[in-house]
Amino acid sequence: MLDDKIEYIKSIDGFKPETAVILGSGLGGLADEAEIIAKIPYSALDGFPVSTAPAHKGELILGRLGNKDVALFNGRVHLYEGYTPQQVVMPIRLAKAIGAENVIITNASGGINKTFNTGDFMLINDHISFFIPSPLIGKNDEKLGPRFPDMSCIYDKQLRTLAKRAAVNNAIDLKEGVYAQLTGPQFESPAEIKALASLGADAVGMSTVVEAIAAKHCGLRILGISLIANLACGLLDKPLTSEEVVKAADDAAPKFKAMITEIVKNI
Ligand code: HPA
Repeated sequence: MLDDKIEYIKSIDGFKPETAVILGSGLGGLADEAEIIAKIPYSALDGFPVSTAPAHKGELILGRLGNKDVALFNGRVHLYEGYTPQQVVMPIRLAKAIGAENVIITNASGGINKTFNTGDFMLINDHISFFIPSPLIGKNDEKLGPRFPDMSCIYDKQLRTLAKRAAVNNAIDLKEGVYAQLTGPQFESPAEIKALASLGADAVGMSTVVEAIAAKHCGLRILGISLIANLACGLLDKPLTSEEVVKAADDAAPKFKAMITEIVKNI
């Protein structure tokens, strides 16, 4: 997979990305904080899926953030764009192939937990994958990871502690909870949100879980941070729109950038 690009990235003098960041809906502004070494559009990465979702750019940025080398995936691809789970996790596997040890997976979600407000950030402490296909279905590549990977602690405890500290230092009231991924693209119905709440989900979205499964499979340490972009369907008496998700992400951008930069610096 992408062997020439992997070799190219690994050959960049002195560049060793310890951490990769997957930037969620509208959260790509973090890329502006980085000192850029190289930018590679996904279309130049052989076989790589190209982002078609709103507010997802579709480029890999290699650079320095918080004095650390990072690989920023500016724009992700989703199952609802018609990509297979294996395509959706290509950025994760590329991050591993270029030497990253940690991956920060970010997203915008709908808040289910009634104590959450729009604009909150939620540290993902676990997830629910029942409603999506596993990216590990099919022949297992033993070079990547085991056939039956353990999922008892997907989101790394040390990284969660780091994130909590970064939140305090940036005056962010970081919530914590369980994220459920559905395929989308339709938002959920009120009955689906009630069902998800009774299953223990605190937030719902259309990404992240497939990526976290692939990242755990290949041995990356994972941090998941979700922006509560809206209250989930049925919690307020109004329809949901993708515009409000993008607006919430824009509003949250300064805090998001400060928190992620500090986490990357202290990893
Ligand atoms: N549901 C699913 N995905 C989302 C939502 C939501 O309410 N908000 C942002 N992404």
